[in-house]
Amino acid sequence: MNKGLAAVILAAGKGTRMRSALPKVLHPLCGAPMLYYPLEAARQADFRQLKVVIGHRSEKVKDAFASDDLTWIEQTDQLGTGHALMCAADSLRGYSGPLLLLCGDVPLLKPGSLKQLQNYHSQQQAAVTVLTAQMPNPQGYGRVIRDGEQILQIVEEKDASEEQRQVTEINTGTYLFDAAFVLSALKGLNKNNAQGEYYLTDVVAAAVAAGKKTRALCIDDPTEVMGINDRCQLAEAEVLMRWKINADLMFGGVSMIDPTTVYIDNGVELGVDTMIHPNVHLRGKTSIGKNCIIETGVVVVDSQIADGVHLKAGSVIEESQIGPSCVIGPMAHLRPGNVLTGNNKIGNFVEMKKSILGEKSQASHLTYIGDSEVGRNVNFGCGTITCNYDGVNKHKTIVEDDVFVGSDCQFVAPVTIGRNSLIAAGSTITKDVPADSLALSRTDQKVIEGWRLRKQKKS
Ligand code: UD1
Ligand code: CA
Repeated sequence: MNKGLAAVILAAGKGTRMRSALPKVLHPLCGAPMLYYPLEAARQADFRQLKVVIGHRSEKVKDAFASDDLTWIEQTDQLGTGHALMCAADSLRGYSGPLLLLCGDVPLLKPGSLKQLQNYHSQQQAAVTVLTAQMPNPQGYGRVIRDGEQILQIVEEKDASEEQRQVTEINTGTYLFDAAFVLSALKGLNKNNAQGEYYLTDVVAAAVAAGKKTRALCIDDPTEVMGINDRCQLAEAEVLMRWKINADLMFGGVSMIDPTTVYIDNGVELGVDTMIHPNVHLRGKTSIGKNCIIETGVVVVDSQIADGVHLKAGSVIEESQIGPSCVIGPMAHLRPGNVLTGNNKIGNFVEMKKSILGEKSQASHLTYIGDSEVGRNVNFGCGTITCNYDGVNKHKTIVEDDVFVGSDCQFVAPVTIGRNSLIAAGSTITKDVPADSLALSRTDQKVIEGWRLRKQKKS
């Protein structure tokens, strides 16, 4: 039974310092929960059996990650990192490869660094290989006590002597173990320490006592291994991750006037020669094509935008598909479920919901289009409203190709406007209109000449 290399990810902690009802590992970072990143890094480094130790509000954590390669391990009482790995022991029975251990709250770690750690571990044939970092300010971390290449022990800050605290090489909480060794060494752990916990870090000294090799690989970039304990560190990590996302996109041919104010979720795709102005948010499962212009204040959520689209300032687009060469905004609001086929113009203060627009159809000003199917070359005048809701149910408006709608018209749905018709300005349309017709529903204008003068003379 070879299901690939195994990794254990520790995520049972409460995250007290977050001061949150949400489990720490579910706090979002560039659009994905924190735990997503270590899981993904392990996968990309070819670890395919992922065992996640959860405890605090574990149901919520499970619900957030449905995936076949995950095994959930409950740690009901959080008695320390050593105890957490003990909880996973049963599910590792019979596994004899290298065992990776990661913390769920270290989201910036790159797959390449895990690969490097694994290569070094197997090349050295060590029982334990610790990923370490040089930290100018090592406060709070476990210190790595070395004798040359061999590490003798890891001492937690709270247990360290004054001299040991001077050490700036720290334990990142990422390890490669010889699985058989670590599982047997866990049995010898005790809680005789300042925090009264089973420390996983104690397996280093146990390996030394058993005459085994212990090694440390010091990572070049310490920001990769920053642990998130509070919301300030979360924001710091977000800045670093956001910069990386934006830099990768810029190297890939996307322009940003001020990348420090561009907020793009992990996984969003953008085409070459697209220009992003300041203060833009692109979220969720969003893709944007080539040669687009995304102006300031635009928010796009879970939407697909084709090539050559111009999104003008302050527009919000949610769960919609925008075809090529559309121009949208400023200040347009596309709520979920719209399909704009292409070459559409949606102007200022236009709201759309669950509507399909055929090619070249447009609504340039102050319009609401909801639950509608609109053909090609339709023009909605200023102030068109589909009255789609009768207080109980939603109804459809169908507007066929080449219809021209004058300003200030209402369509009381359900209603169908046949192709090539003209709806006169100011009409309230309550009945279907056949093709090629004129529909006009306003009352005839009455003019009483001299009326004003007569009024004025009387008073
Ligand atoms: C741990 C290390 C420390 C290292 C630091 C790196 C130990 C004893 N210390 O300290 O050397 O410098 O990480 O960030 O291992 N967890 C569980 N169950 C538990 C306890 C913790 O799942 O019973 C999880 C937490 O959710 C977290 C991770 O293990 O994801 C680390 O726990 P935490 O309490 O943050 O460890 P540190 O005190 O930071
Ligand atoms: Ca701790």
